[in-house]
Amino acid sequence: MAEVLTVNMNRKPVYDIQITDSFDELSEKIKSIGLEGRKTFVITDDTVEPLYADPLKQELAKVCSEVTVYAFKAGEKSKNLDTVRDILRAMVEAHINRSDFVTALGGGVVGDVAGFCASIFMRGIPVVQVPTTLLAQVDSSVGGKTGVDFDDFKNMVGAFKMPALVYINTSTLNSLPGRLFYAGMGEVLKYGLIMDASFYEWLIDHMYEIHDKDKAVLNEMVLTCCSCKQKIVERDPFETGDRALLNFGHTIGHAIEKYKGFELLHGECVALGCVAAAFISWKKDKLSMDEFYEIRDMFVPFNLPISVDDLDPEKILELTRSDKKNTTDEGVRFILLKKVGKAYIDKNVSDDEILAAIEEINFTEEDRKA
Ligand SMILES: NC(=O)c1ccc[n+]([C@@H]2O[C@H](COP(=O)([O-])OP(=O)(O)OC[C@H]3O[C@@H](n4cnc5c(N)ncnc54)[C@H](O)[C@@H]3O)[C@@H](O)[C@H]2O)c1
Ligand SMILES: [Zn+2]
Repeated sequence: MAEVLTVNMNRKPVYDIQITDSFDELSEKIKSIGLEGRKTFVITDDTVEPLYADPLKQELAKVCSEVTVYAFKAGEKSKNLDTVRDILRAMVEAHINRSDFVTALGGGVVGDVAGFCASIFMRGIPVVQVPTTLLAQVDSSVGGKTGVDFDDFKNMVGAFKMPALVYINTSTLNSLPGRLFYAGMGEVLKYGLIMDASFYEWLIDHMYEIHDKDKAVLNEMVLTCCSCKQKIVERDPFETGDRALLNFGHTIGHAIEKYKGFELLHGECVALGCVAAAFISWKKDKLSMDEFYEIRDMFVPFNLPISVDDLDPEKILELTRSDKKNTTDEGVRFILLKKVGKAYIDKNVSDDEILAAIEEINFTEEDRKA
């Protein structure tokens, strides 16, 4: 049941995204991209290693001359230059050279760190992305953004490193804790909202199969998300224009993530940010009131929050305004909706509109009494 998408740049194929439900086709795929006979350095984390390193290693050993596995401590705290240095050292010790390649096995943290190591080791060696979280499968493994956090700044140091291949085994989602799975659904719903109304309807129609992690449904869902991301990345690989649409829900979402000290997961904050952005779209008469409430309420069956306790609206506004990613010389770049399936960039969102949107998702002492 494998499906393949090819990502093109300047009309030339650059890499394939293979979506399937086992590791069984990986060795053939490695062969087909000309990496047969090389050594590979598998980078993973200490949660994913005991789950999937062995089956992956067995599959890679069919076509690679040597497979070395390196695991670092799981979690965002490891996404830094110290981890990068430790990995580069281990790569030198394993005699990895320019003709070899990195395999990234794990979630977005592993993909970003491993992709970055591959981009700088000996001025760059290929990387094969094997994402194992829903967020990584539908978002971070595709598009070539890699990097690490630096001091207090997320993703501050990094490089664009297009993968040689993205190989998605959706059966790895079976071991993913529920909360992480649903956090990934925040990004999935986002694709529907910004660019594909019929996919959004499909998600609603297949809600129960998604909860049950039905194989065929998960594969189709991941395929559609990858194809959405592929389209945007092909149009704007280095985020000079349309790629910003992917930041729908991220402007206020990132501010909440920071304000709450990362106690909420990224996808949960994205859901809250999507509700806030849809609210602003309603207030700007782009969406009707009914459309706003429908969008808001659709996060609930996917176990995502639509309100959060005790936000300080002024602080969230300040964090929104200081997020470099959303800010241009002209002010904050907001991604809003014209309708379900159609997003646009709006540079004229006022502080009052942002504050009203934050109040909409804020669950305060008064709400508790009511
Ligand atoms: N490069 C990009 O374009 C891009 C886009 C979005 C997000 N990101 C980055 O992705 C990161 C978040 O990714 P994430 O949510 O995947 O986090 P993560 O990589 O930390 O994974 C979350 C947790 O799940 C565990 N895990 C991974 N796969 C598992 C599985 N199959 N079964 C059980 N446990 C598993 C991990 O060990 C980890 O503890 C952030 O650092 C973010 O900046 C990058
Ligand atoms: Zn995101």
